[in-house]
Amino acid sequence: MSARPKKIARSEARPRVVRVSLGERSYPIRIASDGLGGVGAEVVKRTRANQVALITVPGVGRRYAGPVMRSLREAGLRVTRIDVPDGDASKNLAQLAELYDAFLARGLDRKSALVALGGGMVGDLTGFAAATYLRGIPFVQIPTTILSMVDASIGGKTAVNLPQGKNLIGAFHQPSLVWIDTGTLASLPRRERAAGMAEVVKAGALWDARFFARLERDAERLMALEPGALIPVLERACRIKAEVVAQDEREETGVRALLNLGHTLAHAIEKQMGYEEILHGEAVAIGMVHAARRSEALGLAAEGTAPRIEDLLLRLGLPTEIPRYDRRAHLEAMKVDKKKEGRKIHYVVLRRIGEAETVELSPAEILPARRSA
Ligand SMILES: NC(=O)c1ccc[n+]([C@@H]2O[C@H](COP(=O)([O-])OP(=O)(O)OC[C@H]3O[C@@H](n4cnc5c(N)ncnc54)[C@H](O)[C@@H]3O)[C@@H](O)[C@H]2O)c1
Ligand SMILES: [Zn+2]
Repeated sequence: MSARPKKIARSEARPRVVRVSLGERSYPIRIASDGLGGVGAEVVKRTRANQVALITVPGVGRRYAGPVMRSLREAGLRVTRIDVPDGDASKNLAQLAELYDAFLARGLDRKSALVALGGGMVGDLTGFAAATYLRGIPFVQIPTTILSMVDASIGGKTAVNLPQGKNLIGAFHQPSLVWIDTGTLASLPRRERAAGMAEVVKAGALWDARFFARLERDAERLMALEPGALIPVLERACRIKAEVVAQDEREETGVRALLNLGHTLAHAIEKQMGYEEILHGEAVAIGMVHAARRSEALGLAAEGTAPRIEDLLLRLGLPTEIPRYDRRAHLEAMKVDKKKEGRKIHYVVLRRIGEAETVELSPAEILPARRSA
């Protein structure tokens, strides 16, 4: 190409870096649209490893593992790739045991690191493998879904599922680096894109009114993945999660619990419908609108809070009503939620857009008999 690049292209290409401040365990999240070619040097710098295993799923690996492996090799690392089958069902103990076997067979030792390339499923599984293999080795996240960019790859929660429930076996293990290349989102189906945006909306709703207003302004540009709109939004959403996590790394002071906005009902909906039928972010969108409506009904939030959230979610293509409403089933599901303590549940309500708090409510108060309440 002979044309000189436009100025705007240069400023868009400048990487944004969000630091997650956790003392010795601090790490950078790098957000840019300049590809995956630079990741190798950064992995070496951050992990000091001499060998890495790249863990991915076939669909993502086919598209993006090539440049990542090349970059890792160019940085002097020995590289091996391990594919796990797609789908949340791979986040289990049997798959984990297979990973350990593969690590041993390929000679991974304490000078090795893991690299997760994919969505939150790959990130959680790889993170837990890294937390436990040889009592813990470093790992790096290359998230390729919006949800994993702004949520799953930040905060150090790693886990696998049990037949009895999701994320029941896990550990806190912070990554050494999160490398976000927004270019990878081009292949992400629109439904997955919208589901990830639900967590972005959540970040604005619970923490930052100006950010929420920005989402209202840019909703369509975001869904079109325009870098000029998308990169600053991903950056702010990452920063919000990083801020919350830095204040309460291990969910002790209650601040981190605010991230559960919309999640109490979301978990109940997911359980009742099945994880195949509804995406997590879709359930969160419904749960968030419900929480905002309850906040208004309880006199906690100003009128108009819920409609603003609902309008934005609808523009992003997300559902806002419970699809197969079954009060008894939803109440039951809330009662067995692992986050309940005694009979009451720490339920996240809104004071206004940008400000959340937890209140103690029983499942019946969260989901009152009259649906419109
Ligand atoms: N650790 C945490 O704090 C945390 C937070 C939220 C969610 N999670 C976990 O994250 C998981 C959900 O993450 P997710 O929504 O990313 O799901 P996912 O990893 O299953 O990805 C969703 C789908 O998109 C595909 N995909 C990924 N990147 C793609 C791309 N760039 N192009 C095309 N297709 C692509 C995947 O193969 C998959 O089919 C759950 O297991 C959840 O428990 C963890
Ligand atoms: Zn969530």
